[in-house]
Amino acid sequence: MATNRTLTMIKPEAVAAGHTGKIIDMIIEAGFKVKAMKLTQLSKERAGEFYEVHKERPFYGELVDYMSSGPIVAAVLEKENAVADFRALIGATDPAEAAEGTIRKKFAKSKAENAAHGSDSDDNAEIESNFHFSAKELVG
Ligand code: CDP
Ligand code: MG
Repeated sequence: MATNRTLTMIKPEAVAAGHTGKIIDMIIEAGFKVKAMKLTQLSKERAGEFYEVHKERPFYGELVDYMSSGPIVAAVLEKENAVADFRALIGATDPAEAAEGTIRKKFAKSKAENAAHGSDSDDNAEIESNFHFSAKELVG
């Protein structure tokens, strides 16, 4: 995958609260193009696999329970400098530390229920895109 892509998930609490449209609007307003998008729900096994890198962390069990607790919206986004620019758009992991105007500042309920995921590197963007989408599901 090109290095100008990132993978996001609008997380269960934000989807359940009806924030999906507003978040997608912010993403598009910020200049990202949607290359693929789906509403889906992760099983515990799939959520555990997605966050495998955090397996040894104390919050892993709760994270897996939370991320499999309801529907999410997964999307591949394209923009120059996508990974870093999208991390800036979502803001800090803890909404209390997130900058004004960021997705997490606006919509996150807590450090755990923090509205949106963004890939942290080009390599992980590709791995995470392949986790959610097959090549033929990406447009363009
Ligand atoms: O999502 P981000 O890359 O900002 O943070 P992370 O350190 O990769 O952690 C992944 C996710 O685990 C976070 O987005 C939170 O949902 C959750 N988490 C948590 O519940 N408690 C923490 N102390 C750290 C992360
Ligand atoms: Mg992360």
